[in-house]
Amino acid sequence: MRNLMINLNRPRRSVLYMPGSKERALEKAKTLAADALILDLEDAVAPDEKVRARGLVCDAVREGGYGARELIIRINGLDTPWGGDDLLAACSAGPDAILIPKVESADMLLNVARDMDAGNAPDETLIWAMMETPLGMLNAATIAAATPRLGCFVMGTNDLVKDLGAEHTPAREPVITSLGLCILAAKAHGLAIVDGVYNAFKDEDGLRASCAQGRAMGFDGKTLIHPAQIAACNSVFSPDQSALDLARRQVEAFADATAKGEGVAVVDGKIVENLHVETARRLLAKADAIAAMEGA
Ligand code: COA
Ligand code: MG
Repeated sequence: MRNLMINLNRPRRSVLYMPGSKERALEKAKTLAADALILDLEDAVAPDEKVRARGLVCDAVREGGYGARELIIRINGLDTPWGGDDLLAACSAGPDAILIPKVESADMLLNVARDMDAGNAPDETLIWAMMETPLGMLNAATIAAATPRLGCFVMGTNDLVKDLGAEHTPAREPVITSLGLCILAAKAHGLAIVDGVYNAFKDEDGLRASCAQGRAMGFDGKTLIHPAQIAACNSVFSPDQSALDLARRQVEAFADATAKGEGVAVVDGKIVENLHVETARRLLAKADAIAAMEGA
């Protein structure tokens, strides 16, 4: 089996959905500060527009012009009249990833991986999985381990809330267990994971709170529906200056302690062990990757 690995260092703070049928949005995206773009053929595109959108999206990926932004094509479900042709077309366009809706089992992804090999998808084109059904949540661990082509979980919280017969609440208690199961599975198998959308796209305070909750839980970033959400999302998912300053001081203090033959250091009255240094280094690397992307 080929060993395809996602680059977990690549920034995925803001992952913007855009309807694949809208030329104007596809063009505008080249200037937006989103880290990643999901060119959608599924829910954002009406049935009559599906075939036209497939052509537009694949042409946009081939033509490029999106700079360092990661490009993901979301295809229709493989049980719909469009899914099979979407997958083949996406394989030949060769985006960074192909996003599969409503993933519920490892077998489903193994079939996708086989179809991608048969469709001559580039080795670099990974599978991303929409996690958005009760069965998907229960099978998250085996789905995460399904195939080395898998790179990222994308939470589909609107579908999940619908299938649960639950309600959207500010603190998201009804879906916390589901978010937790997917985070555990993603981290256990080295995947990236991005949070679900915040529907009220004009409510910036609500969006910031939702981003902060996602960041605290371990998400790499959040999916978005409107360009107006990008700046707040990028800011919440970027390490802030005080955290970076602390991380630098922890790394230095630990190096000094090690040089003296000691195993721990103290910074700001708190213990610094090897594991804290690992976290600090990861934060610094993330800041470097963001700076490199923003300078690109
Ligand atoms: N990606 C890129 N550009 C977008 C965009 C998006 N998701 N949403 C809006 N824009 C653009 C519009 O084309 C418009 O561009 P213009 O000024 O060049 O004309 C500009 O941003 C302002 O748009 P606005 O008028 O505020 O929004 P709207 O009322 O046209 O659309 C939504 C609102 C929610 C319908 C739209 O944002 C959208 O379709 N979002 C994506 C939905 C989606 O993909 N859902 C599936 C996954 S949940
Ligand atoms: Mg969905």
